[in-house]
Amino acid sequence: MSTTATLNTLVERSMRHLSERTTDQSEATMELPVSDYLDEAIWRREMDAIFMRRPLVLGYSAELKAPGDYRALTIRKIPLLLVRGKDGVARAFLNACRHRGTQLLTDGCGHAMRFACPYHAWTYDSQGALVGVYLEKQFGDLDKRERGLTQLSCVERAGIIWGVLTPGVPLDIDAWLGTYAPVLESLQIADWHVAERRSLPGPNWKVAFDGYMEGYHFNVLHRPSVGKDTKGTMLGDQFGLHQRLIFAREGLRGLSDPEALPAVADAVFPVHIIYPNVSIAGGYQDQMLISQVLPGDTMDTSLTLMTVLSRKPVDNDDRQRERMRKYADYIQAVIRDEDYLAADRIQATLRSGANETFLIGRNEYPLQHFHRCLKQHRDADLPRAE
Ligand code: FES
Ligand SMILES: [Fe+2]
Repeated sequence: MSTTATLNTLVERSMRHLSERTTDQSEATMELPVSDYLDEAIWRREMDAIFMRRPLVLGYSAELKAPGDYRALTIRKIPLLLVRGKDGVARAFLNACRHRGTQLLTDGCGHAMRFACPYHAWTYDSQGALVGVYLEKQFGDLDKRERGLTQLSCVERAGIIWGVLTPGVPLDIDAWLGTYAPVLESLQIADWHVAERRSLPGPNWKVAFDGYMEGYHFNVLHRPSVGKDTKGTMLGDQFGLHQRLIFAREGLRGLSDPEALPAVADAVFPVHIIYPNVSIAGGYQDQMLISQVLPGDTMDTSLTLMTVLSRKPVDNDDRQRERMRKYADYIQAVIRDEDYLAADRIQATLRSGANETFLIGRNEYPLQHFHRCLKQHRDADLPRAE
């Protein structure tokens, strides 16, 4: 189905829900044990079986546009370096010198064709090869070919740099995305431009991430902000592990003909959920917000990396840059002061014994799907290093 036909169908489905005051629903409510958020063994298993061994979103093509562009970031205490090599290929390395392990770069983005270790100046090229050893004769024998940066399985697809955090564990992106690949590709993220970055500390990663997957709270918690325009009415489609949620916007009311594109951007708001921890909000208009919810060092903490992308270039356009900065300020405040405040208030009761289970509604079924997928992966055998 073409992208336009898909959008028309989504708009049509949303219009029906809005006029009948309904929403997509699952068969039944679901009881989710509160211990899922508290049990150290469950948390550890999620870290080992999912975050360390399954494909994760590490970065975006838009932040590695040219050879030498890099992003250094830390996930689960693993320091990572994403670089586009001089051959045009995006790779993921451990951001650790092969001499005595010094972190080569502090977290952030930049451009360099060579990476020199700040300790003894061993130098690596943009493809991770060790190309220089300071005072090599004094140092002694070594085979430079064996001392390149440690590479992780990594692939670029749909404008996203994917990787697996454990060296040697393979990454089969086709298997991971399945039927979601064309859905994600339709957003054309590779053609967008990184405008702003923010980060937000939060509670347990699942408590924080749960809120990205239901629209039930929209017209309550977000009444003063995004709830003014976006209705809780929601479509939720599952594509294997991953999901696409569609929220109705105020513009949908005035739309009589579902084929009246491009008014579709004012009629519906998309959120794409990449399992296990990424939300892409927007993309039908001129901006999108990608949130990577990263588990913290402890079970009770997380850090969300927020990247705002602009459809139009921002580098030579001060007005567009300013627009994106304002949008980033606004959306960061909404998530911090509304979503994460509510999430903190959930975290605050977890250990109180008030609830043995949470009841996840039929209208919150993307959340049901997410927690079922997590359980499946916790129970599955670990993908092995090759
Ligand atoms: S630790 Fe990097 S050169 Fe020595
Ligand atoms: Fe929210």
